[in-house]
Amino acid sequence: MTATKHDRNAWFKGGIANCQVTLAPGARTYRMVLLGAPGVGKGTQAELISERLGPCQLSTGDVFRAAKTLDPSERTPALSAALDYMKRGELVPDETVIGIVRERPNCLRCPGGFLLDGFPRTVHQAEALESILGVLSMKLDAVLSYDLPIDQIVSRLSGRRTCGACKAVYHVTTKPPKVADVCDLCGGKLILREDDRPEAIRVRMEAYEKSTSPLADYYRQRGLLVSIAAEGSPEDIYKRTAAALAARP
Ligand code: AP5
Repeated sequence: MTATKHDRNAWFKGGIANCQVTLAPGARTYRMVLLGAPGVGKGTQAELISERLGPCQLSTGDVFRAAKTLDPSERTPALSAALDYMKRGELVPDETVIGIVRERPNCLRCPGGFLLDGFPRTVHQAEALESILGVLSMKLDAVLSYDLPIDQIVSRLSGRRTCGACKAVYHVTTKPPKVADVCDLCGGKLILREDDRPEAIRVRMEAYEKSTSPLADYYRQRGLLVSIAAEGSPEDIYKRTAAALAARP
């Protein structure tokens, strides 16, 4: 059986990771990227894949949200600027995001593998990732690309609520908490992410179309792209993902 306890702190803040990972005998170690529009459900799938197949979820958005909880005097100028881009729904400059990934080689070396969620988002970031992995003598196994019609994406995003304390993710209709606006896991207050407001959603979708959607071709040309329909329940989508991975040589 695969058993994992990932050290998320090492991803959020850098430093030495202390992940406890035992993969089932004969299980593959997956090193993958999750692609897809904002709100398509990448984070939801990342959690399921990480729990069941072992790779560590490495979300660049989570690093920025963790930085938001720091005292402003503890943030580097680049991180403070990144939070302003994020609030508006714009992409953070490539060099800031690439620097964050480059500074965390221990997370990329995780014995359970990794799932990059939200990185790369531009062709320049994808080229940088190739070079970072080359230095570590690693290669990607697959790039999972989740597709969903835009009206369903907007409804997933606008109904999302996030726990202000433990960051657990809910949805007002598809995954409501037991008590309205209260986190089932820690009792924290559920909030609407700043970038889930309509003006920021529009900017994020435009950035996705312009900068991130060309990555599908980039990875298709390298034989890594695995397209997955993101309709249905999280469990249905996970089953499609696992089947698509099992079918790869
Ligand atoms: P990031 O945190 O990466 O956000 P995102 O890509 O916009 O993705 P989301 O977290 O919004 O959505 P998701 O696809 O994970 O969906 P989720 O599973 O939560 O980035 C945020 C910002 O950081 C960027 O805008 C940018 O500013 C900056 N940034 C980060 N990385 C960067 C980079 N590499 N370069 C430059 N800038 C960068 O699901 C959404 C909702 O739907 C939830 O409520 C969930 O419960 C619900 N849901 C999920 N699956 C289903 C389902 N199957 N059925 C019904 N409901 C579902």
